[in-house]
Amino acid sequence: MYILGISAFYHDSASCLIHDGKIIAAAQEERFTRKKNDASFPHNAVQFCLNQAQINPSDIDYCIFYEKPFVKFERLLETYLAFAPKGFLSFVSAIPVWIKNKLFQKSLLVKHLSSTLGNQINWKKRLLFSEHHLSHAASAFYPSPFKNAAVLTLDGVGEWATTTVAIGKKNSLEIKKEIHFPHSLGLLYSAFTYYTGFKVNSGEYKLMGLAPYGTPVYEDKIKDNLNKEQDLIHILKIAFDIEADSNLLQQHIEKIQTSCNDILEIISKT
Ligand SMILES: [Fe+2]
Repeated sequence: MYILGISAFYHDSASCLIHDGKIIAAAQEERFTRKKNDASFPHNAVQFCLNQAQINPSDIDYCIFYEKPFVKFERLLETYLAFAPKGFLSFVSAIPVWIKNKLFQKSLLVKHLSSTLGNQINWKKRLLFSEHHLSHAASAFYPSPFKNAAVLTLDGVGEWATTTVAIGKKNSLEIKKEIHFPHSLGLLYSAFTYYTGFKVNSGEYKLMGLAPYGTPVYEDKIKDNLNKEQDLIHILKIAFDIEADSNLLQQHIEKIQTSCNDILEIISKT
């Protein structure tokens, strides 16, 4: 059985081909388009996978998308409603993009699959959706050397889950526990990434890379404020008592990065 895995429309689109449980080929779209973190449908990566395996599109039994768009849409909608009327304008302006990108994602995927692999095959019938964190857990468990394992995922956010514990036994993998949005270590890291002037879902590795050059002088301030406020950017402003002045921020950047890393280490140990 051939299964084609696809991630797209968020960041770092990619494709992977599996044959009877073995990875035959995998590629990220940015390697072909030369666009960093390319989020478009991975036409080139899909084609590459098929070429590597030397199979025809009709040989693909299932295409699996890495998350469930409807559940994610529900989370986005509920988040905006929870913060209403704050953010109403961005809510209104975002709705058409959401509807196009999320609600109609199945038909969008079918359209892209047809244009990449031909429309002789009914891709709608062969297209299935996994859950975001189940995809992460599967990508760690199945290629691992372990037959049985506890699998921990710590992400920004998927549909609702931000952190999960799954149990893997041979070919089965089941999520047993979940922590839901907005409680998220990944989003905390993304908030620091944004606050220190980098792009979210892109510059996190720079934050990690720069952290060892600073000292964790803001650790106590962040810890003290972390439990009091829900809005992470607001927390950061309080914690550092500085406005989002880029010059001033630059002077503090390594200290902030180190403090953030240390806080995450402390949280992960508790
Ligand atoms: Fe993720």
